Amino acid sequence: MSKKNSQILKNTNAELLDLFNASIMFDKKLYSQDIRGSIAHSKMLALQNIITVEEQNQIEKGLLQVLNEIESGEFKFSLEYEDIHMAVENRLTEIIGDAGKRLHTARSRNDQVCTDFTLYVQEKTKSIQSQIKELISTFVDLASKHTTTLMPGMTHLQHAQPINFGYHMMAYANMFKRDFERFGSSFERNNYSPLGSAALAGTPHNIDRFKTAELLGFYGPTQNAMDSVSNRDFALELLFNISTTMMHISRISEELILWSSYEFRFVRMSDMYATTSSIMPQKKNPDVPELLRGKTGRVYGNLISLLTVMKSLPLAYNKDTQEDKEGVFDSVETIEISLSILNEVIKTMIVNVENMANACKIGHLTATDLADYLVQKQNMPFREAYYLTKEVVEKANSLNKDISELNINEIRTSSNELANIDEEIVSYLSLKNSMNSRNSFGGTSTLETEKQVEGFKNWLKSE
Ligand code: ARG
Repeated sequence: MSKKNSQILKNTNAELLDLFNASIMFDKKLYSQDIRGSIAHSKMLALQNIITVEEQNQIEKGLLQVLNEIESGEFKFSLEYEDIHMAVENRLTEIIGDAGKRLHTARSRNDQVCTDFTLYVQEKTKSIQSQIKELISTFVDLASKHTTTLMPGMTHLQHAQPINFGYHMMAYANMFKRDFERFGSSFERNNYSPLGSAALAGTPHNIDRFKTAELLGFYGPTQNAMDSVSNRDFALELLFNISTTMMHISRISEELILWSSYEFRFVRMSDMYATTSSIMPQKKNPDVPELLRGKTGRVYGNLISLLTVMKSLPLAYNKDTQEDKEGVFDSVETIEISLSILNEVIKTMIVNVENMANACKIGHLTATDLADYLVQKQNMPFREAYYLTKEVVEKANSLNKDISELNINEIRTSSNELANIDEEIVSYLSLKNSMNSRNSFGGTSTLETEKQVEGFKNWLKSE
């Protein structure tokens, strides 16, 4: 091999190693958290007389200039500085000289990266929570307009009992409220500052970790330096919380896909959120909910991926954990766009009230009501009532009618044992009556649904 070629190979290998080792390509996203953390650290160092007030002023001013350069796009990111921490510190020292070299006193990149990442996770937790709240408010608004809109409630995707559409929407409001609360409890648990843990064992400098924690909006410092630099539970919790929310997004997406099919035609999604086929001119495809459903898979992958990175890692810091960020960034971006898009889809869709009501007339949804009536009013054992009801269902089938459409004569002639049944049974078997009879707490009756809607409106106001 010529001397020149071996030189190229050497360079290429070195470049390859830099590329492999560095995280700057993705952790530059943490620039604002990194700079905030450094400003707080420098303030604390000055308060503790570890650096002078003059040095702190220079550092803070310099860091704000770096922030400005990054935000204006002037800043040159290069592989020469492995990560955002080194890139910022290096540029700071270029700008302010020797004082910049004092910033890294009593800290390590190990606690720095945990601090930056925790700040990022906490900020995103809050902003995702407010997006979830907006979505809940959309479900509640829609529900409040449809507490009397009949639709078939299903089990096994088969018609089961009549419910109202508002009630169905409130089921989703409840799911997303649990998500909101899950993000909230993670925030509370993880709002502690790792800064000052240093490499793994603390520092001999007389630092004040309570001060930096306070300056950064944390409740206090974390308890054990070794745990602090090894910990990525906060990121895992975020990934799990996002995954669960995406699972809920995927479930409503699946229903939207079904409901907008010709077989259902319960809703019509706005043309903005449906696409056409390149070959079939008549088609309107639910690409948006399909994508929401599909993206859920990738988000689950990010959770499993970080769980796998963390398993078996010995204490304390290991470079493996540099792999924690990309999946988190990806999941955050995915949930942010998914929540906004879903919110718009729900807001703009048209609910086909008539088709929902018509669908309730298929499948004898009120058959259980007849059995319940016989038990309640005639003290009949349930099993007997069940078989009698079956006879009425057969009669309805022979007349090509739904049980809710039978007149009193048709009911009485279904079976000898029903020959004298009271005329009120006709209204008992109506779809509306059936829906409203389920008025147990949390049940589907219009009144109970309205109570739920009210409860949610109060919650939305109070939060
Ligand atoms: N870029 C690293 C990361 O993302 C920062 C911490 C590096 N610490 C170290 N000792 N190599 O995890």
